[in-house]
Amino acid sequence: MSDLAFGIDIGGSGIKGAPVDLVAGEYADKRTRIPTPQPSTPQAVADVLAKLVDTYQLSDDVPIGVAFPAPMQHGVVRSMANLDQSWTGVDLPALVQRATGRHAVAVNDADAAGVGEVRYGAARDADGVVLVATLGTGIGSALVVDGVLVPNTELGHLEIDGHDAESRAADSAREREDLSWDEWAERLQRYFGVVEDLLSPDLIVVGGGVSKHHEKYLPSLHLRAPIVPAQLRNAAGIVGAAALAAGR
Ligand code: BGC
Repeated sequence: MSDLAFGIDIGGSGIKGAPVDLVAGEYADKRTRIPTPQPSTPQAVADVLAKLVDTYQLSDDVPIGVAFPAPMQHGVVRSMANLDQSWTGVDLPALVQRATGRHAVAVNDADAAGVGEVRYGAARDADGVVLVATLGTGIGSALVVDGVLVPNTELGHLEIDGHDAESRAADSAREREDLSWDEWAERLQRYFGVVEDLLSPDLIVVGGGVSKHHEKYLPSLHLRAPIVPAQLRNAAGIVGAAALAAGR
């Protein structure tokens, strides 16, 4: 099998993709970003995906992995908050396969990022239970046990203190409420404290764009498990989805 797969990260504002070198765990060519079409219907997004893949000269056997910002089960979108509502019930791998003629897999965006971090990043070769949490508009979660993904966890939606956890502790809450780093760290302490009591992870990895400012809030957190910033940053979803597409 070739060491190349194509990874795509579908987001509310942009659709990003790049060929991924699966040995190095990094882009094999520059990343392309196309704005998410409005309305972001499945067909409109499928057309963008086909265009994105056509930007590159890839042999026919290069598979496609897609990271998608919603709960998914076996590639089928369970519910949708960030894109057009008509996504609910769509079989995403089948849609991508029709649009590109290539083998495709699709997973939740945080699951993809988790796989990226475990295969190539901050949790590389970690044994035991690894929790990867992405802090952005929402909170995404990936649970990986001895290198195997336990898919579809939605730990951003735990109800904590009467609130949907991500509405208080996501990076968007920090921005919306203009919280200081210390105030936000208190929210994160409460969030990760609850998650830690439920799952006893051996390692917690924090991803999402705000992970680049990790020194402003991670040192304030006191948990039993080590809590470390993600290493692949924004590439984690694309790299992880590509790895899953190639069965790595
Ligand atoms: C969604 C998750 C997603 C996360 C990050 C949450 O609101 O429910 O499926 O992984 O946001 O995009």
